[in-house]
Amino acid sequence: MDNWHVLSLDSTKIATLLGWEDAEDGPLFRRLADGLRRLAEEGYLVDGSHLPPERQLAHALAVSRNTVTAAYAVLRTEGWIEARQGSATRIATSRTSEAAVHRADSEMATLLRDLGSRTIDLTLAAPGAAPIVSRSIADPSSLLPDPSVLTQGHGYYAAGHPHLRTAVAALLSAQGLATRADQVMITNGSHQALSLLMKELTRPGMGLAIEEVAYPGAIDLAIRSGVLMHLLPVGKDGADVDALQATCRRARVDLAILTPDFQNPTGALMSAETRRRLVRVAQEEDMVLIDDRTHADLDHGATAPLPLASFDDQARVVTIGGMSKLYWGGLRLGWIRARSSLINRLVEQKSGSDLGTSAPMQIIAAELLRHHHDATRTWRNKQLRRSLDALESALLTSMPAAEWGRPSGGPNLWIRLPGTDALEFSHRALAGGVAVIAGPLLSCRAGRATDRIRVPFYAQPATLTEAVTRLARCWAQMTGR
Ligand SMILES: Cc1ncc(COP(=O)(O)O)c(C=O)c1O
Repeated sequence: MDNWHVLSLDSTKIATLLGWEDAEDGPLFRRLADGLRRLAEEGYLVDGSHLPPERQLAHALAVSRNTVTAAYAVLRTEGWIEARQGSATRIATSRTSEAAVHRADSEMATLLRDLGSRTIDLTLAAPGAAPIVSRSIADPSSLLPDPSVLTQGHGYYAAGHPHLRTAVAALLSAQGLATRADQVMITNGSHQALSLLMKELTRPGMGLAIEEVAYPGAIDLAIRSGVLMHLLPVGKDGADVDALQATCRRARVDLAILTPDFQNPTGALMSAETRRRLVRVAQEEDMVLIDDRTHADLDHGATAPLPLASFDDQARVVTIGGMSKLYWGGLRLGWIRARSSLINRLVEQKSGSDLGTSAPMQIIAAELLRHHHDATRTWRNKQLRRSLDALESALLTSMPAAEWGRPSGGPNLWIRLPGTDALEFSHRALAGGVAVIAGPLLSCRAGRATDRIRVPFYAQPATLTEAVTRLARCWAQMTGR
């Protein structure tokens, strides 16, 4: 059955979007298949939308009909399009096809399933619990003067436990972003924060700007929401604001998800000046910015610029953050800071799906934020710096041809392996005893970051050194060097 709200693009529009005249070398039908695949990935051709009849598209592109037939055949084989007897060709709607679900889902699942106990798992950039967390859960009286507060009352707090909302507001205020408790809601990790915001703020066909390489969970949410994705390159200064401005000149951008503080996977930190410019663009273009501060505490001991929202006097920036990267992901605690009217709508949505987040965990978290934040932050960043030093030194010794920039913060090293297919390398590395994520799985666009791997450095120095020894062996075997 046709989806009435799915707009199909006509041949002329497709010809424009393909940027046909800029296309690279290679057989015409391949170039056309690659271009159409890219339009589907970026959301210009959404699930279920019709492709033009072959003759029409051939005419619009000034190519032979055989070229279009061959390009459609390639995409059909790859599962991107489907054509039923007697009906038009359209973008496949199957949510299990590569076209619909981010590749990270299946690839990561495969990697994790195959891990043996001798494999060093560097797929997740997630730390073990900080000692203060383990201690507090094992013995709450070591943290709380009166642990009976953990089970007081009915335990349902749709917007979050008042203690934690207040503690988060105080934390953000101390970081330079004056915040009241009613501007904060508590979520199950920052992933739920992103997911609630995507549901509340987007509709299929809206324009979303997102970093070209990003947290796979954000890419997945963006793809599932049916937005048109506009990809921003990421440099040393974070997302490219010039590219965002250029995008706004040719398309409507309603929303952007950005990580100015220690971008995942590059570790880039956006300067204060660029933050100011970014907010100005958002104000001029009537755009909402989601500032994902999940990694903001992992500053390696340096001072980062003020949060994005502190440059904003029009409540256009929504800030999200959480406990996962400093304390422990298993707490599943995050938050959203926004104007209170938006918070109220988001609370209704969250409440409709889970009636609130675990109360005892929120009470423990509030106490951690209030009294143990600075110490935990200093401890974790010291660990990260030691592990990063060990990782870099092992790479310099065993893989001198690898390239990377030392990240300003965060838990990831974004390593380039020149001339290497990173997906193939990650499969070989798995066989060689190390699980790493290949660049394409963190990339919004096929064919990007194909020679990159992401190596998180939460692990101990000795583990990272052993991991690099194994990776180096695999790379040497693969390249014959
Ligand atoms: C940039 C970014 N945002 C959000 C998340 C989700 O984190 P959590 O839901 O554990 O707080 C992650 C996890 O890796 C991340 O890297």
